[in-house]
Amino acid sequence: MKVLVIGSGGREHALVWGLAKSPHVTELWTTGKNAGICEIARCVPLEEQGINALCDWAASQQIDLTVVGPEAQLTVGIADAFRGKGLAIVGPTKAAAEIEGSKVFAKELMQANGIPTAGFAVCDSAAEAKKRARQFSLPLVIKADGLAAGKGVSICSTWAEVDQAISDIMEAKMFGDAGERAVIEEYLSGMEVSVFAFVSGTDVAMMPPAQDHKAIYDGDQGPNTGGMGAYSPVTGLSATFLDEVRECIIQPTVNAMAAMGRPFSGILFAGLMVTDQGPKVLEFNCRFGDPETQALIPRLESDLYEVLSAVAHGNLNNLELRWSPATAVCVVLASAGYPGDYVTGFPISGLGEVTALPDVQVFHSGTKRVSDQVVTAGGRVLGITGLGATKEEAIARAYSAVDRIDFIGKYCRKDIAQRPAKQS
Ligand code: AMP
Ligand code: GLY
Repeated sequence: MKVLVIGSGGREHALVWGLAKSPHVTELWTTGKNAGICEIARCVPLEEQGINALCDWAASQQIDLTVVGPEAQLTVGIADAFRGKGLAIVGPTKAAAEIEGSKVFAKELMQANGIPTAGFAVCDSAAEAKKRARQFSLPLVIKADGLAAGKGVSICSTWAEVDQAISDIMEAKMFGDAGERAVIEEYLSGMEVSVFAFVSGTDVAMMPPAQDHKAIYDGDQGPNTGGMGAYSPVTGLSATFLDEVRECIIQPTVNAMAAMGRPFSGILFAGLMVTDQGPKVLEFNCRFGDPETQALIPRLESDLYEVLSAVAHGNLNNLELRWSPATAVCVVLASAGYPGDYVTGFPISGLGEVTALPDVQVFHSGTKRVSDQVVTAGGRVLGITGLGATKEEAIARAYSAVDRIDFIGKYCRKDIAQRPAKQS
């Protein structure tokens, strides 16, 4: 089978790595350019990687299965284009990807179907938003409706911050058209958990819970990043947690999507807050999470190609997912300054040594090969995943590998998996 993975981060490296283990996969292609992905998959030889160009190329190469990492291409219809040419693809249609592409769409769907989420109001203008906000109490969350590269959410503890966030989104248009509408949302406290499901229409196969660590500094301090580490399974959840999430959140959501004529196919990702009243949805995404995927795929014992092919072909019912009981802990190594400005191009040492360690896997994000040397090329540089029979063992393995890798400005959090994420 010929498989194409679209995207170029640690998430895609983990997917490519998982697919490479499958005996079904004879050719692996990727649009990714980092040094790790390029070691195991061939780079699609296209200068311009727009949807039509990729679709034509995949058709000409008779690619059997395409897997899409990032949301941006899904929300503009890459899955529709591929399916239109008879090409199998893992990812929702443009209409179904709106569950991530529009927070208003997601909130209204949840409200109409009794899916637990924070109380909210939708506003079309800054003046209306500032007025409606006063009907809530502080702290308050202000969100741009559309995609904003993870930056469209503000948690505000004063009315001045609320007004500023609304002005930034709706008047200054800091996120462009994504700020045509805004959502004002009640602040939820608890523990954040990411739950992923393989979905095909109304068929659902749940993945084990994972937890991301979004803030840049230890103790969940400082600005949010794309994710500084993740682990799975998550400690501190009840034995019935995953069943409850399936029954009260995932299944009713996909049933509602199907009933609306927008059946979802692909990976449904629910970002949850586990509150005193149970799990509530913070957001839906229509794809795998990063870095969570770097902690989930190493635990998957089933053949990843078979699983993803079942998603694309609607055969989820016959699928039995097997997961290792081990804990996986992924620590992200970033460039100094990230998520603000940072400098790249520094040589990375220790990769060879770490690759030889048992129960450690290195996933590349922002790296590139310059002749014989791998150098930094992004804010998030590497994800180092350690596996262990216990969480403590996995943490020790991950950090012992982290210590052996070096580059100028190397930064990582020291507390991945060591405390419940954000409980204020
Ligand atoms: P989102 O992009 O909607 O997941 O929001 C990004 C981050 O903002 C989440 O991971 C949470 O940490 C935080 N957040 C979003 N919505 C809320 C909320 N209603 N209450 C508390 N924190 C929130
Ligand atoms: N880890 C969060 C995300 O991928 O959006």
